Amino acid sequence: SVNNRSFPANFLWGGATAANQLEGGFDAGGKGLSTADVMTAGTHTVSRRITPVLEAGANYPSHEAVDFYHRYEEDIALFAEMGFKVFRMSIAWSRIFPNGDDAMPSEEGLQFYDRVFAELAKHGIEPLVTISHYEAPYHLAEAYNGWADRRTIDFYVRYCEVIFNRYKHSVKYWLTFNEINILTMPFGTFMAGAMKPEGNAELTASVQTDNEQLRYQALHHQFIASARAVKLGHEIHKDFQIGCMIAYMCSYPLTCNPEDVLLAQQKDNLSNFLCSDVQVRGAYPGFALRYFQEKQIELQMEEGDGQILKEGCVDFYTFSYYSSTCVSAAPDQESIGGNMSLGLKNPYLQASAWEWQIDPQGLRWSLNNIYNRYGLPMMVVENGLGAVDTVEADGSIKDNYRIDYLREHVRAMGEALADGVDLIGYTSWGCIDLVSAGTGEMKKRYGFIYVDKDNEGKGTLDRSRKDSFFWYQRVIASNGAEL
Ligand code: BG6
Repeated sequence: SVNNRSFPANFLWGGATAANQLEGGFDAGGKGLSTADVMTAGTHTVSRRITPVLEAGANYPSHEAVDFYHRYEEDIALFAEMGFKVFRMSIAWSRIFPNGDDAMPSEEGLQFYDRVFAELAKHGIEPLVTISHYEAPYHLAEAYNGWADRRTIDFYVRYCEVIFNRYKHSVKYWLTFNEINILTMPFGTFMAGAMKPEGNAELTASVQTDNEQLRYQALHHQFIASARAVKLGHEIHKDFQIGCMIAYMCSYPLTCNPEDVLLAQQKDNLSNFLCSDVQVRGAYPGFALRYFQEKQIELQMEEGDGQILKEGCVDFYTFSYYSSTCVSAAPDQESIGGNMSLGLKNPYLQASAWEWQIDPQGLRWSLNNIYNRYGLPMMVVENGLGAVDTVEADGSIKDNYRIDYLREHVRAMGEALADGVDLIGYTSWGCIDLVSAGTGEMKKRYGFIYVDKDNEGKGTLDRSRKDSFFWYQRVIASNGAEL
């Protein structure tokens, strides 16, 4: 269908991925074990487990993932065929520093990304690089308790220095941490915070022991690391654009009861804006300090931390947006979703098979809400529908449900642009099928490109084009006019 709203001529259309969900080759080229590599596959109802010692026979989906490590040329050619202007990917920290605290980076690891960036350049695709996307060298978890230890900041900054210098002529857009605000939730302790699990922990909040004090301390260390990376990046190359990345959890009040309205605002503040206020404005907001005080959280800060935060403000704001939920001050309301999209059911919305409520208008609302606060250029760097796809006898994949989802979200972005939001790009999540972060499954697919691999890890890994591939190709070719 036709879209009456127009997109800027240089709008960055593309797709998004993360190394541990895409690359595989988990021990190839001298790569060290990462936190993602010790997580087993789960399902919608069965949690992923964290096993400090790898178990024979267990399914660790990151180990092979969809083998981009060996197939990047074919995959990038397919992205180019769709017309991608930008490709969001992450660098696997443990390919560069296998243990995190090594004295020297791995030349072989660096060369892999040389090849990937060269391939992207060949097709005129701009890389957008997440420096840390839900993984850290596992050794940092074992030996330092990950981000809970202040020394991890230095390891991260050294890693940044190496990749900034190495790739400064290939990469302009960088994101310091994927969904940094996930650490405000127990769910993020291991995945985002690389904090050592006790025993054979499960990824879900309910089982992994939570220590809120330590989680916020780890988050503080990430803020300092991010700010130092921004400052260093600008010194290394003045044209670098370095952004924050927030899992924007759009939460409506369930009713117009002022209690619900206030609660929704408080959730927006604590879950979404706490992190971006620090990264965009360079200081903790008042509501965060109040929260820390009320929860008796005492952050250990060093002299100079305030200055570091001030000097390391990001250049642009990026976020993931999948769904919305509701909040209520009243007890016993019906909840829906899981992982990062857990909240109350909205009677006006339909949900995906994984119970993520579908709400394109929420994207317009979120874009306006965030832009009103910061006025910075923005990118939607994740958005999409995780769904089960069926391959027809003739090999085609008729994923109209995905096209419907994406069409309405692109339309919502057009409306937000018309509202005046400075939106500069869109990278839909999992442009090629990849491992689900939340459940570790393959069957929760987001891609335009199908990958023949199932939940048990079986399949040829062959790639094929879904119907949505051709749809997105048209969207990009018409710069968002033909949906
Ligand atoms: C985002 C993450 O939260 O959501 C991605 O940054 C993740 O890594 C995506 O894959 C979708 O979540 P899931 O659980 O469906 O993979």
